[in-house]
Amino acid sequence: MKVTVVGAGAVGASCAEYIAIKDFASEVVLLDIKEGYAEGKAMDLMQTASLNGFDTKIVGTTGDYSKTANSDICVITSGIPRKPGMTREELIGINAGIVKSVSSSLIEHSPNTVLIVVSNPMDTMTYLVHKTTNLPKNKIIGMGGALDSARFKYRLAEALGAPISDVDGMVIGGHSDKGMVPLTNHATRNSVKVSEFLSAERLDQVKEDTKVGGATLTKLLGTSAWYAPGAAVSALVQAIACDQKKMFPCSAFLEGEYGLNDLSIGVPCILGRNGIEKIVEIQLNSAEADHLKESAEGVKKTNGLLEL
Ligand code: LAC
Repeated sequence: MKVTVVGAGAVGASCAEYIAIKDFASEVVLLDIKEGYAEGKAMDLMQTASLNGFDTKIVGTTGDYSKTANSDICVITSGIPRKPGMTREELIGINAGIVKSVSSSLIEHSPNTVLIVVSNPMDTMTYLVHKTTNLPKNKIIGMGGALDSARFKYRLAEALGAPISDVDGMVIGGHSDKGMVPLTNHATRNSVKVSEFLSAERLDQVKEDTKVGGATLTKLLGTSAWYAPGAAVSALVQAIACDQKKMFPCSAFLEGEYGLNDLSIGVPCILGRNGIEKIVEIQLNSAEADHLKESAEGVKKTNGLLEL
């Protein structure tokens, strides 16, 4: 199992680290354009192998895509991250050019790869890959919902005073401060609806805190977060690599599902060796359905800024 991660910045490097620690891949290639940077990160990570007990080989390269050849899974994290006060949508100008050229170079060397897009604005970057490459739709996956759901569970556990392992919940919709749709109505604490424990006001607060999860960290850190994004990507990579058939909300290209068409947006997906093996249509209440529709309108507006 060979995995390529493009972008050896904080998200790409932590993603490579988490993949290696789980020890399911034979090789992880880390590629960056900054001279020597990916090689340095790869060497540093390889020097953790005996300490952390993994056999995954991590290789770094400065822009040599031949080293990525025949990857089973490729992850694109490259592009500029947001600074405090910026929205993910403001990154589109620079990141669209980067994602277009990176995806085309990756596919040239790994025509059968499953591609995971992390660069922001993520739903629009995922759509861009659909429009500009010939990869089948099940092999183009945007990572946002797995991260937003992890942040949702963190906030729910905090509000409940419960351990995170007791909490389950999902965030669908666009990966943006306004677009996220945390499904409070479906969230549970050990199979019991969280609404049994939390007031509507407290649940609204959890929702709001979840939606600005990335922005809150950007403000604290001065740049966007990396541990949870890296862990979320590695969970998707593992689900695909190990054919786990796990369900995560992912940005998937929709053709009628949830009444939506011609966009990529976060919906529950079963992930296995073929990438998105099934899009799961769950019953939404009318407030959730309206919120998803609004979110889709926002994503489409951002897609409209692409020069396709
Ligand atoms: C975040 C970035 C990865 O939400 O979009 O932290």
